[in-house]
Amino acid sequence: MKQPSFTIKTFGCQMNVRDSEIMAQLLAEKGYVESMEMKDADVVILNTCSIRAKAEQKAMSLLGALRKVKKRRPGMKICVAGCVAQQEGEEICRRMDYVDLVIGTQNLYELVDLLESVDGTSKVATSMSNSYEIPAFIPSMPSLTSPGGPQGATPAPSVRKFLTIMQGCNNYCTYCVVPYTRGREISRKVNDIIEEARVLVDAGVQEITLLGQNVNSYGRTNSVTAEGGEYSFALLLREVAAIEGLKRLRFTTSNPKDLSPDLMRCFSEIETLCPQFHLPVQSGSNIVLSKMNRKYTRELYLQKVAELRSFRPDISLSTDVIVGFPGETEADFEQTMEILEDVRFHSSFSFKYSDRPGTRSADFDDKVDEQVKSERLSRFQKRQDQICLEQNSLYVGKILPVMIEKVTDDGLMGRTETNHIVHIKEIIECSPGDIVSVTINHAGQHSLNGRIDSSNQ
Ligand code: SAH
Ligand code: SF4
Ligand code: F3S
Repeated sequence: MKQPSFTIKTFGCQMNVRDSEIMAQLLAEKGYVESMEMKDADVVILNTCSIRAKAEQKAMSLLGALRKVKKRRPGMKICVAGCVAQQEGEEICRRMDYVDLVIGTQNLYELVDLLESVDGTSKVATSMSNSYEIPAFIPSMPSLTSPGGPQGATPAPSVRKFLTIMQGCNNYCTYCVVPYTRGREISRKVNDIIEEARVLVDAGVQEITLLGQNVNSYGRTNSVTAEGGEYSFALLLREVAAIEGLKRLRFTTSNPKDLSPDLMRCFSEIETLCPQFHLPVQSGSNIVLSKMNRKYTRELYLQKVAELRSFRPDISLSTDVIVGFPGETEADFEQTMEILEDVRFHSSFSFKYSDRPGTRSADFDDKVDEQVKSERLSRFQKRQDQICLEQNSLYVGKILPVMIEKVTDDGLMGRTETNHIVHIKEIIECSPGDIVSVTINHAGQHSLNGRIDSSNQ
């Protein structure tokens, strides 16, 4: 009998990328085969994101387009997973009756049983519990999908992998849907994480990125060891770093309010912890930060950045920024521009504020005009682009260790410890995962160019 095929399209954050891998692994264990072609797959899963209206629309328009495919092939099963699925539930089936299954973020591990019970009517499984525990699912082999998502990724074993250490969020920033779509914060057991990291390293993975919405509160809301008692993210980092064979360790994301000296110290003490930190600031104005419920001030943020740099002067910093939050004045926005000048981020993700259903700020009445938001966004991005280039130019002439990710007929592509992509137009004998010394000879806004240093020969 022909094995059923599936394809997963991923939207949103790294956590969704990892969830897509988990779904792929669950299906592969039951004999399903991954197909890159959505139009011929027996099962199509859209793993959706609801963080901004645009992210949601992208998934929904693809779902709309699948109606025609389903008409041609009524046997195809369409499944909507992820944060939109969790939030919209029944509503998706009401609007699109050709959807077979809507599966929420806490029902991920029930995917195969749910799919097999699909019988022509739409099924919805979006339960959300405060006492949810992340199942100890540890596949014996990493999935073949690369981080970056199945979109366009080459199906080759990747040397870099994501590892989810916690789910949900208890912070309730006023603009954010995550506490509603992912539920309360829950940390995975230390042993499950270590075992999963070992499986990855044994299979040839060289770099692991630990994932959580606020990794600094790892182990605070539930017990993560058999003995119970206190545990911390800094301790977890040390345990993962101790796994023999792991060359590079990263993590994301951390709310500045919880960035502890203990975690900062890890940057000077753990050799494999890469000097890179994503520290979302969101706004440079204390008034806006307070309305966002971020629980830190610009002064505290700047102080933490200075402390981080004292532990690791070469650390590269990136951030997230929202422009046009309700009530944001020109003066508030100028303060965000100022923070960009003060910190000189190596890169940033910046977004126009977007109303999300169920969030507190959706009800704020002092919304900023769409045009003003666009103008502020472009001012911010323009200046950030210049700073990226200036920061990247500082690497020119330096010899840096670069982990190779891709070897093609034209040359090599790799990454520095600071997470900068490096293109090398030379062919040498090497494989993905090798770390080679590279002299940087050109800096662009988004990547560097280099040549192999003679010390490698
Ligand atoms: N846990 C992370 C953020 C996860 S969401 C943190 O606390 O920083 C990723 C980013 O999306 C956020 O940092 C924020 O910049 C952006 N974002 C979230 N909700 C948004 C909204 N309603 N409108 C615009 N951007 C939003
Ligand atoms: Fe959302 Fe705030 Fe939680 Fe980040 S910390 S996921 S922005 S609620
Ligand atoms: Fe999007 Fe959900 Fe991640 S809303 S950003 S996929 S946690």
